[in-house]
Amino acid sequence: MAEALIINKNLSKAEIYEEIIPQIEAVISGEGNLIANLANIAAILNAAFEHLWTGFYLRDGKTLVLGPFQGPLACTRIPVEPIPRGVCGVAAATKEPQLVPDVNQFQGHIACSSLAQSEIVIPLVHNGQAELVLDIDSNVLNTFDLVDQKYLEQIITIIKNTHYKAEE
Ligand code: SME
Repeated sequence: MAEALIINKNLSKAEIYEEIIPQIEAVISGEGNLIANLANIAAILNAAFEHLWTGFYLRDGKTLVLGPFQGPLACTRIPVEPIPRGVCGVAAATKEPQLVPDVNQFQGHIACSSLAQSEIVIPLVHNGQAELVLDIDSNVLNTFDLVDQKYLEQIITIIKNTHYKAEE
C-alpha cells in the first residue's frame, strides 16, 4: 500500500535528502519490480525538489532507453556505443557521474526541453556496465553540486542493493 510522503521543504537540500532517503528505502523494500521502484523514486525526488525533469534511462544494448520519469516528454533512446550522446550517454559510457552546471557548454547535450539549463546524471554500474542512469534536469543554471551527487549516489546504491545484488 502506498504511504503518504513526509517532506519539509523548509529544510536545507541535504536535510531534504536525509528525510527522503529512508522513505525511498521503505517504499521500495517491499517490492521486487525494478520499474515500479524506479517510478516511485522519480515521484519522490520530484515531490521533494520539483526540478524540470527527474527520471531514469535503462541500458538496452548499445543505447539507453527511457524509463520511469516525472516531467515533460523526453527523448526515447540515447546512444551509448560506439559514440555516446548527451550527458546521459557520457555517464553510461564513462560509468562516472556527470555534474553539468550549464548544459549549453556541454558538447553533445541532448535538449529534450529547451528549458533545461543544468543537469546531473548518476550511473548505476553493475558487473562493469552502466545498467541505468538517474537523470535530473533543472531550468536554472548551476542547480546541482556535490551535495546532490553524494545523496543521489546513495539512492543509486539503494537501487543496486535491492535489484542487482549478486555481482562481482
Ligand atoms: N539532456 C539529456 C537527455 C535526457 S533529457 O534531458 C530527459 C542528455 O543530454 O543526455
